[in-house]
Amino acid sequence: MVHQHDFDVLIIGSGASGLSLALKLADHANVGVISKGPLKEGSTYYAQGGIAAVLDPADTLESHIEDTLNAGAGLCDPTVVEFVASKGKESIEWLLDLGVPFTPDDATELPWHLTREGGHSHRRIIHAADATGKAVETTLETQVRANPNISLYEHHIAIDLITGSKIGLKTDRCLGAYVLNKEQDHVVTFRAKFVVLATGGAGKVYLYTSNPDVSTGDGIAMAARAGCDIANMEFMQFHPTCLYHPAAKSFLITEAIRGEGGILLLPDGERFMDRFDERAELAPRDIVARAIDHEMKRTGSDSVFLDISHKPARFIKEHFPNVSNKCLEYGFDITREPIPVVPAAHYICGGVIADLNGQTTLPGLYAIGETSCTGLHGANRMASNSLLECLVFAQSCHDDIVAHLTSASMPPDLPFWDETQVRDSDEEVVVSHNWDELRRFMWDYVGIVRTTKRLQRAKNRVELLKAEIAEYYGNFRVNNDLIELRNLVQVADLIIQSALHRKESRGLHYILDYPEQSDQVHNTILRSRSNETT
Ligand code: FAD
Ligand code: SIN
Repeated sequence: MVHQHDFDVLIIGSGASGLSLALKLADHANVGVISKGPLKEGSTYYAQGGIAAVLDPADTLESHIEDTLNAGAGLCDPTVVEFVASKGKESIEWLLDLGVPFTPDDATELPWHLTREGGHSHRRIIHAADATGKAVETTLETQVRANPNISLYEHHIAIDLITGSKIGLKTDRCLGAYVLNKEQDHVVTFRAKFVVLATGGAGKVYLYTSNPDVSTGDGIAMAARAGCDIANMEFMQFHPTCLYHPAAKSFLITEAIRGEGGILLLPDGERFMDRFDERAELAPRDIVARAIDHEMKRTGSDSVFLDISHKPARFIKEHFPNVSNKCLEYGFDITREPIPVVPAAHYICGGVIADLNGQTTLPGLYAIGETSCTGLHGANRMASNSLLECLVFAQSCHDDIVAHLTSASMPPDLPFWDETQVRDSDEEVVVSHNWDELRRFMWDYVGIVRTTKRLQRAKNRVELLKAEIAEYYGNFRVNNDLIELRNLVQVADLIIQSALHRKESRGLHYILDYPEQSDQVHNTILRSRSNETT
């Protein structure tokens, strides 16, 4: 049985960010990629709407920048926004060179069809029908599987990062990770000159989410435990429109449907979004999700409705084949009728603080993609800016790693995982109960509209769960569910702490005790080493 693997670069995660970086690095470095499920399983695969980039000569970079800043409610870092927006075109060209089958435009002189989503004042979303993520992820997957310099470890879940300080070295640095090989049920040490977290989001902290099961915030939790600074965790984005059906697991109904003319209706057929914002259905997501939440509470209804049936059936089926087929499976024909929709947790705007190269506050550790907090999204991510962020930071992270690769040395021998003090669990049910309880109270107390009292209630509960889970973790052998639960409770705690710290309403954080946006603009930074919040 192998106990240790050595790589120049270890990438944890195989979505758009992780696989793009692996491909870019493969000419220079020996790369290991680990993925806790099958390679393609992650948010990227399920992305629908597309990727934002200025590709129409009538659009401008300034406009993309301005729209992103507006959606971010004053909290985006303008340098980062400009950096990312200005690299949109080259990022898309890279994907086109790899062979991603974007949807062509037959109606205009542009080569690719560009759709619209909330917050964008131009058509600037390039897409592959309504299954853009599938097209991107499967193209990347084919390329990495064929590359001899990339070693892939599927069904391997990272447990914790190994740092200099944890093993008693004087200089702190990330040296590798402990990883559970789920198929062989044993823990392996991965040692690397550089480690990259590309572990995606944390939607599973909430009871209802558009995210796949792997989105449990592992990278954020591991980074926090390793002493990295974490920012802006209060800004969980709720996507306004997920299908309301008991069996549909919050299936996402793409915002591009509203971009192409879809309207939101109350159960009695009244259109309501124009009462909340002059951009109506195409206002940024925080505004639309809050309006839906308000109307559902006001009218006592279980959902609102999304209607695109006024468009020709052929247009709908051509543009939205994935959504229309999935809805048919649940008995809804979007070409003929409005469908019931509700908001669900979708995207975490906060995360591991990373600079323009993806470098975190721990030397040797990078964070890219949804797990990072770069300053691009501020208090509310604009639609389709996240896949763009994955691609842009994969490139800049590559550039930085390549620049430092020859001067970096392989870490010293690392201690193996110690299982001498633990035994097999005799009460697996504790894990599933804690898991359910956590996701339920996060939904009830830390949702779209917050109050200090409810946040405090959530804080009390999370403290109890943290203690219980820590005790359980200390006594029993690890498995996938326990690793994820330990991470979920830590991420929930970070969200609650950050939400309690922000005494204003801004973007995605709306709190009834402080309904106004403050003139003072600040990021919420949780300094893991000192346990401070600033
Ligand atoms: P992911 O693609 O989520 O990949 C994370 C990877 O990390 C997975 O391989 C997972 O297995 C692995 N992983 C996690 N933890 C561990 C661990 N402990 N050990 C080992 N591996 C681990 N954004 C857009 O810009 N446009 C869209 O149209 C769009 N549509 C979306 C639709 C849906 C339904 C969802 C859920 C999101 C959508 N988003 C969209 C957001 C976007 O898809 C994600 O933000 C982006 O794909 C994240 O990419 P990533 O590489 O950071 O992570
Ligand atoms: C969607 O297609 O509505 C999702 C787009 C995104 O989250 O950026």
